[in-house]
Amino acid sequence: MTMYTLPLERMAVSRPPRLRGTVQVPGDKSITHRALLLNAIAAGDATVTGFLDAADTRDTLEAVRALGVDVDEVGEGQLVVHGRGRAGVTEAADVLECGNSGTTIRLLSGLLAGFPFLSVLSGDGSLRGRPMGRIVTPLRALGTRITGRAGGTLPPLVIEGGPLAGGQHIETPVASAQVKSAVLLAGLAADGPTKVTEPAHSRDHTERMLGAMGADVVIEGTSVTLSPPAGDLAAIDVHVPGDISTAAAWIVAATLHPDADLVLERVGVSRSRAGIIDVLRAMGADIQMQDPRVVGGEPVADLRVRSAALRGVRIDGDVVPRAIDELPLLALAGAVAEGDTVIADAAELRVKESDRVATTAATLRALGAEVEEHDDGLAVAGGARLRGAPVEASGDHRLAMLGAVAGLLADGETTVAGAGAVAVSYPEFWDHLTRIGRAAAATRA
Ligand code: S3P
Repeated sequence: MTMYTLPLERMAVSRPPRLRGTVQVPGDKSITHRALLLNAIAAGDATVTGFLDAADTRDTLEAVRALGVDVDEVGEGQLVVHGRGRAGVTEAADVLECGNSGTTIRLLSGLLAGFPFLSVLSGDGSLRGRPMGRIVTPLRALGTRITGRAGGTLPPLVIEGGPLAGGQHIETPVASAQVKSAVLLAGLAADGPTKVTEPAHSRDHTERMLGAMGADVVIEGTSVTLSPPAGDLAAIDVHVPGDISTAAAWIVAATLHPDADLVLERVGVSRSRAGIIDVLRAMGADIQMQDPRVVGGEPVADLRVRSAALRGVRIDGDVVPRAIDELPLLALAGAVAEGDTVIADAAELRVKESDRVATTAATLRALGAEVEEHDDGLAVAGGARLRGAPVEASGDHRLAMLGAVAGLLADGETTVAGAGAVAVSYPEFWDHLTRIGRAAAATRA
């Protein structure tokens, strides 16, 4: 069992004279979760190279092991999942601890809906406050016996899995890859096709990987239809690209810093994830995609990012799910840009690891920006001259990184309380920051 407890340390950051260097950001979190979960129910050995070794993905790894699947760590950044097909997955002896990870609990719930045993899933205080009705309702529609605290809306979740009814069409009210994936993974145990339609495109790693493993997946607009395979999925080796959501910290830092030139190597730039690049370019950013290539079925490029003057924009509609985890950093870009920036259609921000409308607004205000909170987003006045200040990570890895990036730009010193929250998705974050800023050196405050 792994437990993620909020580390209390505080880091101090100030603006370096320049940002320079090359960073290999860690492996993509979303793809790492899927490589583990899908290979765990597939037949054969699969090597996962460049996987993200961080708290969230460790929770998925330990859950897979608790379900009877052997996973060997064979070298740095490499593991082998020994899938023995669905028959190799057995009831866990204890609660499956999902820590801080929404992806772990939601994808695992969908997967376990189709297995004929009892599963109990829980997590840390943040996760136990996050909405689960969004997966419980569609999984019940497929015939799953699933319940949870507060009428099945909060973890812990209890699942008595088994065969499910095919021929269902699930329409999700939110564009969420976690919900879409939960439905598709349950659909693997259905006796006919399962179709899921979302209001806008969310990240598509699950359907891509299922297709590559031999499942019959048809994508039409914002709908995905899965016909369960006759036998087991085929195990596949996965080369995990760098995570654009963590690269985002350096993309925004380099764009906003007055003397910056950074190269971020081997970043996954799939359209369903690259909304941050589209938005920043529309604001005037200088982001070059170098050596674009396809690695393990995913588009990858080296990103060269240099200082640029930005203008404010409106961020809404279809780009929102394509940039959902990067919106706090885009709000920071809006504060420094000329003119105002509005983020709308992003009510989902309120149910992430923290209420990111509130926590982003608090961080930016502490640094002197003018920010209005809306139910579904933020309005940020541009042209702020950021002043270093104490900020809080609020137990949220993305907010810890937001505070750090703001500290690279602001006058004076910024201290980030709860700085260790980065361990959820980017344990090397503070080391990398020190390296690219050199003189900026983040220090334990
Ligand atoms: C993720 C989907 C997104 C994202 C999260 C990872 C995934 O959540 O915010 O960090 O791997 O499927 P939603 O699907 O709830 O939008």
